[in-house]
Amino acid sequence: MNDEPLVLGIETSCDETGVAVVRGTTLLADVIASSVTEHERFGGVVPEVASRAHLEAMSPTIDRALRDARVTVRDLDAIAVTSGPGLAGALLVGVSAAEGLALAADRPLFGVNHLAAHVAVGRLVDGDLPSPAIALLVSGGHTSLLRVDDVTAEITPLGATLDDAAGEAFDKVARLLGLPFPGGPHIDRIAVEGDAGAIAFPRGLTSARDDEKHRHDFSFSGLKTAVVRWIEACRRDGHEIPVADVAASFQEAVVDVLTSKAVRACREEGIETLILGGGVAANSRLRAMAAERATGLDLRIPPARLCTDNGAMVAALGSALVAQGRPPSNPGVGADSSLPVGTVQMLGLS
Ligand code: KG4
Ligand code: ZN
Repeated sequence: MNDEPLVLGIETSCDETGVAVVRGTTLLADVIASSVTEHERFGGVVPEVASRAHLEAMSPTIDRALRDARVTVRDLDAIAVTSGPGLAGALLVGVSAAEGLALAADRPLFGVNHLAAHVAVGRLVDGDLPSPAIALLVSGGHTSLLRVDDVTAEITPLGATLDDAAGEAFDKVARLLGLPFPGGPHIDRIAVEGDAGAIAFPRGLTSARDDEKHRHDFSFSGLKTAVVRWIEACRRDGHEIPVADVAASFQEAVVDVLTSKAVRACREEGIETLILGGGVAANSRLRAMAAERATGLDLRIPPARLCTDNGAMVAALGSALVAQGRPPSNPGVGADSSLPVGTVQMLGLS
């Protein structure tokens, strides 16, 4: 008999319907249905389209995850679901499904924070997270530097982006370069053929003055504007846009700032573990530069598939909450589209 908690996790905060089953820190099943192709022609995620796609995908995705894990609903010890932050309608589809399942099977329900789940997913790869740790969370909607004393209860923001999220900057620049949505993976791929030193794009919030006021914060809107201006000037002069060089130089500017601030935070706080999480942590240059710079640190980066949105991260956080003996959420936990990063679990009204 295995007495580690068996937890089903449901993720629907954006365009991915993710359902996974985890036992302790072992991933048993991980199923993702994505509506990304339905959003492609709009150049961004359309909330109503995402909600409808979640509704259609929800039951089959849950069934498939249970089948893959060779368990039934009755075997589960708990159900975890993303309660926020994210798109309100999309979140509600996942939360309603989880509430229904928990009620029908008479199992505890944990409404969890999507951002904390991006950090917790590392448990499935390297085991429980050492405490304290610094986490660099880089996704389409968020970019934060966090101090994690306990992924189930104590996450403290050290800094965040003042404007665009890192993934958002990738997606916007990709659009300028005529690449499909979401642009991050396309920039990553094309940058390999470019020269990262070709164009000296600005590194936001790294001046001596910013180091005082915004030491752990980020800003990517100035970089985005610099890319726009550079492309406009190139067109004006009648030159062909060197897409690979622009992609590589832009990516280098983002990754340079992210890794230098994350590593510096570890060294200043005397913290030895650095965790990367969120969709942008799938970026190959970010992974390589973090490894170069994090000398002497315990650097933890989940495989790319676990960095982008999925149900495994939600199940991983759920199983950590159960293992820590945290109380479940109330049955009608609901969703909060702007749940702050420090609130790991939503308890809901009793
Ligand atoms: O965490 P995630 O899947 O969804 C949110 O919670 O936002 O992150 C999605 C973001 C998108 O902006 C996407 O372009 C970016 O992650 N992304 C990447 C890569 N893969 C995904 N950015 C850069 N390089 C990649 N390889
Ligand atoms: Zn995410």
